[in-house]
Amino acid sequence: MSKNFDWPVGSNDAKERLGESFSRLHLDTKILASHAKPLTNVDPVVVPIYHSSTYRFKTIAQFDEPNHGSNFVYRRCGNPTTENVEVVINEIEGGAGSLLYNSGLAAINAVFWEFLGSGTHLICMSPIYSGTSSFINETLKRFGVEVTFVDVEKEKNFAEAIEKSIKPNTKMIYFETIANPTMAVPDVLGTLKVAEKHKILTCIDATFSSPYLIQPLSLGADISLHSCSKYIGGHTDVIAGVVTVANYEN
Ligand SMILES: Cc1ncc(COP(=O)(O)O)c(C=O)c1O
Repeated sequence: MSKNFDWPVGSNDAKERLGESFSRLHLDTKILASHAKPLTNVDPVVVPIYHSSTYRFKTIAQFDEPNHGSNFVYRRCGNPTTENVEVVINEIEGGAGSLLYNSGLAAINAVFWEFLGSGTHLICMSPIYSGTSSFINETLKRFGVEVTFVDVEKEKNFAEAIEKSIKPNTKMIYFETIANPTMAVPDVLGTLKVAEKHKILTCIDATFSSPYLIQPLSLGADISLHSCSKYIGGHTDVIAGVVTVANYEN
């Protein structure tokens, strides 16, 4: 073979790992176990789409290591493809970390379930995206979360109206900028100032602004979230959501 085309053939990782015992396996088992060596020194410019739900462990000792000695174990717990999106979005948002979800509403659900519970009080801008308000009204309330809506279109001073709604058990102030579908823009800085004064968590759904145009965390919000199904996806071919946090203290 010419030197220019001297390319090593792929090797069977299972055969190398199992050694002599591999040759004694039934053909069906050989086919099932055989796979090329995982990439170690290759860095594809376009991130591959990893479909695998689970990952192999090299040894039993690796299984016993913390997190099984691997970043990736099971799809629900993490995936190299989505991690790449998380890294890029976190960079735009300037956060401590981002997590990608199956939809924008899944991301919103995750935030509410994580921080709210029976006996806590949520202050929420209205009107907001219909899926979010349905979830709050039809689901969150059933689980004992108290909710006060503050109408961004009726209140002359939105931040002041938010402050008046604060109760001793207020846990979170949630609003959108720009709002879907009204395109209302609340007083973001004023509202964040009120939240800071009363030490209340803030979560901003900035889907309609996109993280390119506004980075809520840099303005002082604790949590920023997006439906990636809009500007982040950009081509009407993606359903996803992302949550970015300013820090891990909460
Ligand atoms: C502002 C806003 N937040 C959340 C969502 C929900 O996102 P998804 O459709 O990705 O679940 C939408 C969807 O239209 C939205 O406009």
